[in-house]
Amino acid sequence: MNSTRQFRFIFKPLVFAACAIPAGLMVLGIMKLQGITEFAPMDLGADPVSRLIHACGITALNLLLITLLVTPARQISGWNNLIRLRRMLGLFAFFYAVMHFTCYAWLDQGLDLAAIGADIVKRPYITIGMAALLMLIPLAVTSTSGMMRRLGRKWIKLHRLIYVLTALGVWHFYWQVKKDIREPLLYVAMFAVLMAWRIGWRFKGKFVPARVPEKT
Ligand code: HEM
Repeated sequence: MNSTRQFRFIFKPLVFAACAIPAGLMVLGIMKLQGITEFAPMDLGADPVSRLIHACGITALNLLLITLLVTPARQISGWNNLIRLRRMLGLFAFFYAVMHFTCYAWLDQGLDLAAIGADIVKRPYITIGMAALLMLIPLAVTSTSGMMRRLGRKWIKLHRLIYVLTALGVWHFYWQVKKDIREPLLYVAMFAVLMAWRIGWRFKGKFVPARVPEKT
């Protein structure tokens, strides 16, 4: 099996499975709460709603950062196939961000649109989270190969929104923490390193312009 086939039939399905694990753990946690199963590695505890909001939010943010890690990892390793993971990672980030919003809007706010609207307007960290989620939508919608071909260079420009929305996601996390800011600060640092790498690469004159990924 050549390396492209290995990537397509072994590595990519493994990454897909890894991305689906948090969702699987959450489903098991909910099933345990319902008394359907005893086996649940993720304990949703006394406040399952906030535990679910947390798990989906942090997974979305982790996946956004991992998506941004793909280009430096490819530049360091020279393994060009890695670029083919970006779409899947980005779509999983979108999925978890939508689940995060759904848990908040449905389980926390009882789909009370007036209360949700008031929260978005009055609580700045929610305003920022909402802006990040809205920016993810055009990226997800235009992630298909057909859209990549149709938009050409405009696709590349549009997908630069990932830098802005990840910054907003990190800021949203930082802002909602009440006391211990060490974890959000770690995310600020990781994002800063990923951006510094890109800037450094550009200044070294080795910057490879983002390409429209090939169809996988
Ligand atoms: C790309 C979009 C988003 C990302 C990456 C994201 C990420 C996060 C993260 C990492 C946390 C911290 C979890 C924790 O430690 O408890 C969080 C918390 C939270 N987010 Fe988001 N979020 C996003 C969008 C949104 C949106 C659209 C809303 C609602 C309109 C929202 C509402 C909340 C709430 C209510 C919390 C919990 C705050 C608390 O526990 O007091 N987020 N989010």
